[in-house]
Amino acid sequence: MTVKALFHLNGKNVQVEVYEDEPLLYVLREDFGLNGPKFGCGMHQCGSCMVLVDGEAVPSCMQPCKSFEGKKIETIEGLIKSNGLHPLQESFFEEQAAQCGYCLNGMMIAGLALLRSNPKPSENEIREALQPVICRCGTHTRFISAIKKASEKSSKF
Ligand code: FES
Ligand code: FES
Repeated sequence: MTVKALFHLNGKNVQVEVYEDEPLLYVLREDFGLNGPKFGCGMHQCGSCMVLVDGEAVPSCMQPCKSFEGKKIETIEGLIKSNGLHPLQESFFEEQAAQCGYCLNGMMIAGLALLRSNPKPSENEIREALQPVICRCGTHTRFISAIKKASEKSSKF
C-alpha cells in the first residue's frame, strides 16, 4: 500500500507517494534522482547512505521514508550553491580525499554535521564523528585532513 510523505528536501518542500516501508534512500535515489547517498550494507553499518536529518548525520537505508515526515533532509547534492562549491567540498578536492569514492558521501555528511555543531573540532572529535562511516580503501587520514582544512578556512557551514 502506498502513502504520501511530505518533507523538506534540499531547501524545498516536497511530497511523494511511497510504499509504507520504503526506505528513504530508495526514494531519494529513485524518485528524486539524488544518487549522492549510496547503498552499501543496507543494515545501518557502513554509513555510505548518510543524509542530514534536522542537521544530524543519519543512515537512510533502512528507516521508512514516511517516518521522516516533516523533517528537514539534506543530501550531498544540496551543498552545491549557485556561487560554487561548499568549503567542505573544496577541501575534499584539495586533499584528494578519496580513492574509490564509495564512502565519500558518508564522510562528507558526517563531517558537515560535525562542523555545523562544532566549527573548530579537534582531531579526536573529527575521528569520532567519522567513526560510523567505513572506508574500505583506508583513506581516513585524508578525510581527517580535509575536515581540518575546511574548519580552518571557514566557520560557516
Ligand atoms: S547502506 Fe546504509 S549504513 Fe550501509
Ligand atoms: S575511498 Fe574507497 S571506500 Fe573510502
